[in-house]
Amino acid sequence: MNDHPRRVVVITGAGGTLGAALSSQLAAEPDTDVVLSDVNAASLEATMSGLAEQRGAVETLLADVGEIAEVEAVIGLALERFGRLDVLISNAGVLSPNGRIHNLATEDWERAFRVNVLGAVNGIRAAVPVMRAQQSGSIVLTASVEPEEIEALRGAGAVACLTKDRELDEIVGAIRDAARRGGAADR
Ligand SMILES: NC(=O)c1ccc[n+]([C@@H]2O[C@H](COP(=O)([O-])OP(=O)(O)OC[C@H]3O[C@@H](n4cnc5c(N)ncnc54)[C@H](O)[C@@H]3O)[C@@H](O)[C@H]2O)c1
Repeated sequence: MNDHPRRVVVITGAGGTLGAALSSQLAAEPDTDVVLSDVNAASLEATMSGLAEQRGAVETLLADVGEIAEVEAVIGLALERFGRLDVLISNAGVLSPNGRIHNLATEDWERAFRVNVLGAVNGIRAAVPVMRAQQSGSIVLTASVEPEEIEALRGAGAVACLTKDRELDEIVGAIRDAARRGGAADR
């Protein structure tokens, strides 16, 4: 159980549609501080400008989730600024508008797995040592249950497999696969 008075949440892909919605909601919650990260500066800035005035502390850092050192820097910022990490929402992702298996080039697959799957792995790698030391924490991996193009590009099955790691479940306490079905989140 977390008996700390404030909750610290890190969100990757915070500049996107779902990331902006999560950021707005969580930053406005009492007793919650957030670190918002994205690879795209303009998107992250747009999310920042949409946050409520009444909110906890907010830090931002540009980072590519495909690079473990950059993800570790985001987690490091949470520790440096807030002293702990309660929740990692690994949400950064890429889609392709015509992502049927037979339409995708090798580069599309490599990019999708680098961001969608390796990005989630990097988040887990960076967060687990911190959560293990705290003996608490939650990791939320966004994926998709949409058929065909979205699922193919999301590597959703691969991301879901990450949630089946029993040792990880024991260490972190809660691993949740936050797949959303249907309808896009609006900004
Ligand atoms: N929006 C929805 O309703 C919905 C539904 C089902 C699944 N999802 C899943 O939720 C996640 C977010 O979806 P979204 O609709 O917000 O997508 P989006 O495209 O609006 O946002 C994705 C964000 O990830 C960022 N990003 C891309 N590559 C990155 C990288 N290498 N490092 C860091 N950030 C990177 C982008 O800059 C962007 O801000 C995706 O994984 C998506 O599959 C969303």
